Amino acid sequence: MSVLDLARAHLRGVEPYRSARSLALEAEVFLDANESPRPLREGAQFEGLNRYPAPQPPALVREAARYYGVPAASVVVTRGADEGIDLLVRAFVEPVCEDVLIAPPTYGVYAIAARLHGAAVREAPLDAARGFAFDADAALKAARPGGVKIAFVCRPNNPTGTGVPLAAVERLAAGLAERALVAVDEAYLEFSGGSSAAELIARLPNVVVLKTLSKAWGLAGARVGFLLAAPELAALLQAVRAPYPISAPSARAAEAVFDAAGEALMRRSVAAIVAERARLSERLLRVPGVTRVLPSEANFLIAVFANKAAALDALRSRGIIARDRSAEPGLDGGVRITVGTPEENDRLLAVLEAARV
Ligand SMILES: Cc1ncc(COP(=O)(O)O)c(C=O)c1O
Repeated sequence: MSVLDLARAHLRGVEPYRSARSLALEAEVFLDANESPRPLREGAQFEGLNRYPAPQPPALVREAARYYGVPAASVVVTRGADEGIDLLVRAFVEPVCEDVLIAPPTYGVYAIAARLHGAAVREAPLDAARGFAFDADAALKAARPGGVKIAFVCRPNNPTGTGVPLAAVERLAAGLAERALVAVDEAYLEFSGGSSAAELIARLPNVVVLKTLSKAWGLAGARVGFLLAAPELAALLQAVRAPYPISAPSARAAEAVFDAAGEALMRRSVAAIVAERARLSERLLRVPGVTRVLPSEANFLIAVFANKAAALDALRSRGIIARDRSAEPGLDGGVRITVGTPEENDRLLAVLEAARV
């Protein structure tokens, strides 16, 4: 059996749309794509914008292959990891009769993408009493009655900040081999220092990995991410994606940041955020009304408040927003706080300390 057999039957063998720019990126005169022959305004920000962009910017594909240690044929450049999630659901899950498995509390878009597509969501909840550790056996058990087509694993997990060992991903992927994909979302992996599940793909082709430039790489506004998969799966996803997912300004910004020089900058920024995460955590624990701060391997913390509504109100009244996660299972009173600059974190701490929530 090929891992391609997991795709929805009507997509197997589907031909990708051959857009003009996918056929010819280099020429002297472009009369093939019904574009305007010139931009209507002058200025660096408009240069070249009368032309369609490369469907998969070659420099980004090259850098992603190098940085993530996979063949170029395994890389799909996406409009952020969110587009990767949507692509996977659309390509692999049969609406109505197949399910997606998640381990709540986790990133909300997995369930939303599934429901928008008409698929059901099955849950293998993380156990708050065990520090929200991901339990591969619980996930396998929840997937045992057939029908689960994608199991999403978020490492580190949003919103709990919990890491997931590679061995747990491997166990899940081996258990679901030939039955379902394991989509490993590594949006925050740079903050945890763990090694990527991308190294499993060659052995376990039902593993796919979601990456993003929105977090450690500082490019959330550009909307650029990557989906890493076995080459035959990546080829299928290339046929399912939009013809031109990455706008030219986004590609330009990503190419300027996502390279070896940018990697050094990223690592310095991540080190500063990780140090600040430790300071913020320790200071939050001393704020009256904070009962707990969860350990985190990401760039955010969950602080549990005795009165989270009062804490959020106090912050909002001083122009600071944090994310209420208290409705999530096991996170009663939980507020997710992104690690900001030291000055921003100090402002947050000052408001909470003064509010005596
Ligand atoms: C776990 C997780 N995955 C994916 C995303 C979305 O990433 P992108 O901006 O690349 O779409 C987020 C954004 O918050 C996230 O928390």
